[in-house]
Amino acid sequence: MITLKSAREIEVLRRANVIVAEILEELKKKVAPGVTTLELDSLAEELTYKKKALPAFKGYQMAGRVYPGSLCVSVNDEIVHGIPGERALKDGDVVGLDFGVIYEGFYGDSAFTVGVGQVSEEAARLMRVTEQSLYRGIEQLVEGKRLGDLSSVVQKTVEEAGFSVVRAFVGHGIGKRLHEDPPVPNYGEPDRGLRIREGMVLAIEPMVNAGGWDVKMKEDGWTAVTADGSLSAHFEHSVAITKNGPYVLSKL
Ligand code: MF3
Ligand code: CO
Repeated sequence: MITLKSAREIEVLRRANVIVAEILEELKKKVAPGVTTLELDSLAEELTYKKKALPAFKGYQMAGRVYPGSLCVSVNDEIVHGIPGERALKDGDVVGLDFGVIYEGFYGDSAFTVGVGQVSEEAARLMRVTEQSLYRGIEQLVEGKRLGDLSSVVQKTVEEAGFSVVRAFVGHGIGKRLHEDPPVPNYGEPDRGLRIREGMVLAIEPMVNAGGWDVKMKEDGWTAVTADGSLSAHFEHSVAITKNGPYVLSKL
């Protein structure tokens, strides 16, 4: 069931997502060779409590498993849901940071991918194209268009660059729950699917592999990696559809 949000609810969702954006901004400054993924997780948690919010992912349950971290840190061939730990970042790594909070009963959710020190030309292009596919998708979030318009624009942007879109994970509605209807795939056909309406709030999150789209699960039961070992990037924004078009709630 899709819940449409009132203007007041969208303002609370905005505040939740601004908290996420501010924390992601701080985490980005911390990313450097030698920093462990657990250090990033601890900083994210500390900043969340300072802002009177709660980490949304900690203790989150999916398919009977409980997520142990507050932050998802996905390095190189890891696509999403990398669990923070003792791993230290290295020069040339590609690191995805995905973070969410609960604030006044509403969820914020956003992610970006960044290079550690100097990255390869291919890695830089992968990140650029993934972010561009997100923004091109967001442009489609106009009343009267359909979800397939967004999905197909994301897919086209990615595939024209020679990369592939992950099928196993999708974006989602967001509000009083982290994952609401509708699912938002990053592949599809124009002019198909659900009609975009004012009051919808959607988390758009393309996951893009440099190689093939197939994924594998690590033994921890959470970390999704590329089946072929290629690099992967992930960008995410929570976006409200208003009568004036898309309102990117997680952008400062
Ligand atoms: N941004 C991710 C998502 O939308 C975060 C979920 S991680 C989890 O699916 F641990 F909370 F599941
Ligand atoms: Co999400």
